[in-house]
Amino acid sequence: MKFFIDSANLSELKLAAELGIIDGVTTNPSLIAKEGVPVEEQVRKICDIIDGDVSAEVVSTTSKEMIGEGRRLAKIHKNVVVKVPMIAEGIKAVGALAKEGIRTNVTLCFSAAQALVAAKAGAYIISPFVGRVDDIGWPGIELIDNIMKIYGNYNYKTQVLAASVRGPLHVIEIAKSGVHIVTLTYKVLEQLFHHPLTDKGLEQFLIDHRKAFELTNV
Ligand code: E4P
Repeated sequence: MKFFIDSANLSELKLAAELGIIDGVTTNPSLIAKEGVPVEEQVRKICDIIDGDVSAEVVSTTSKEMIGEGRRLAKIHKNVVVKVPMIAEGIKAVGALAKEGIRTNVTLCFSAAQALVAAKAGAYIISPFVGRVDDIGWPGIELIDNIMKIYGNYNYKTQVLAASVRGPLHVIEIAKSGVHIVTLTYKVLEQLFHHPLTDKGLEQFLIDHRKAFELTNV
C-alpha cells in the first residue's frame, strides 16, 4: 500500500519525507489556501521535496476550464496528477485529459456509483473520502470495500486512494480492503508509530543496559 501525505505544508512534508516511507502527496484547495502561496509555486516546491505523484486540484467548474487548468498544472512537474471534482463536467475533463496522457485523481467521491463512473472515464486515481462518509453516519470503510470489489470485477486500472482518514483504525481497515494508496495527515502518520508497550519496553531496555554497562563503570 502506498502512503501519501495529505498536506501542502512544506515543513510537514520535509519531516514526512525524512521517514523514507512516503510515496506521494495529495493537496486540495483548502490545504493550499492555508499556506498562502500561489498554487503553482507551492506545487513546484512540493514536487522538489517528495519524489512521487503530487495531486494538485483544479478550481474551475466547467470541463473546458478544467481541461485548460489541468494542462497548466500538469506542466508544473512530471509528477503532477490533476485532481478533478466528481461532477459531470469533471468527468468530461477526465476523459479529455486522459486522451492527452494527463493523469487525473477524481476527488470528492462518496459513493461506489461515482467511483464506477470515474473508472469508466479513465481516471488514474479515485479518492473516496472515508472520514466524511463516517461523519454523516454511513460506513466509510464499506464504501472502500464496495469500490475494491467493483473495480476487481472489471479489472479497472484506476487506483483507489483512501482519503479523509482520521486515525490508525481507519488505516488498518483500509489496508485490509487492499486499496492501492492511503493519504494521511502528518498527525495520523505520526500516530501510526506509537504504541504504549513500545515506549514502556524501550524505557526498560535502556534502564537495564545502563544499569549493567554504564553505572558499573562510574
Ligand atoms: C484528499 O485528497 C483530501 O485532501 C482529504 O483527504 C480530505 O480530508 P478531510 O475530510 O480531513 O478534509
